[in-house]
Amino acid sequence: MLSTQLLSWYSENKRSLPWRLTKDPYKIWISEIMLQQTQVATVIPYYTKWMNSFPDIQTLAHADYDHLLKHWEGLGYYSRCKNIHLTAKALDKDFPDTFNELIKLPGIGEYTAKTILAIAYNQTEVGIDTNLERIGFRLLGLKKKSKFNNNRVKKFLEGKQDKAHPGDFNQALMDLGSNFCQAKVVNCDACPITVHCKAALTDNPLQYPEVKKNKPIPEIQVAVCFIIYQHKLLLIQRPEKKMLAGLWEFPGGKIESGELKENAVIREIKEETNLSLKNVEYVGEIKHQYSHFKVVVSLFSNTVDDISSLKIKENYIWTTMKGLDKFALPKANYKMLELLNKDI
Ligand code: ADE
Repeated sequence: MLSTQLLSWYSENKRSLPWRLTKDPYKIWISEIMLQQTQVATVIPYYTKWMNSFPDIQTLAHADYDHLLKHWEGLGYYSRCKNIHLTAKALDKDFPDTFNELIKLPGIGEYTAKTILAIAYNQTEVGIDTNLERIGFRLLGLKKKSKFNNNRVKKFLEGKQDKAHPGDFNQALMDLGSNFCQAKVVNCDACPITVHCKAALTDNPLQYPEVKKNKPIPEIQVAVCFIIYQHKLLLIQRPEKKMLAGLWEFPGGKIESGELKENAVIREIKEETNLSLKNVEYVGEIKHQYSHFKVVVSLFSNTVDDISSLKIKENYIWTTMKGLDKFALPKANYKMLELLNKDI
């Protein structure tokens, strides 16, 4: 039987991961949120550090948000961190154990809710993410991505689940996906359930399901300024609802088409801070790639001696270079800092 073969392989070969040493719903929840759109190897050190600092939901609920964000710095998709904090504050202690309660929490969708229920509470749910879905499509030999086929895969996996070990069934499929059944690489000969797989019988299992062509990634041009006042740098906090939510960054913004970058930085700084910069000095350029676009940042610096006109909508701070490490910054801003003369 598929699940017997899968689980016996899993018991011998499962990856040793820190969140597999516990059934604590709080820890499973944090691990699953961190694992959304993020690779296991990236998550491990973040998870470990997080649990050292915030071992339970009460500690988390009472933590300062900048402190949390500092623990999330570099992991990406920062609204996850905000949602975790909101949830911890709302729950304070008891973590829900029903689908209907879980699905209402910010940042928890069907996949995460079901995965938590299966792993932490041994409930007979299958959390199906893109990896499990791909395995289902291959087992059934389905090519076309459609609601109908997605549903077939869901029913199929739910039917195959070992009802006594729902968490292991889910995680065994995850390990299968990472070991033998990746989107672009397969090793059907080593797969413990290859005899059940229709795609493995074909000459190209990778065609199951069919892959959409990636769209080209757009590139945007941005102008940013280190504004220095009394040997301190200006940092502005990004709004909660936007990308990189809550992170601190140097002011600046998009260069409009045809606009000179020197003019763009002066205009952007005026709009964002109400400061009128004179004699901005060009520092250099950095590039950074996000999941859906690339940025080219032209970087300037300007030392100001009068900030009486300063007016900023968002939270902001003036910090020394040393004080910077209390704040979580986007990766691109660290690249920018490398270009800055450290003795400001
Ligand atoms: N990806 C998402 N959840 C996971 C888990 N519990 N173990 C390994 N990879 C995962």
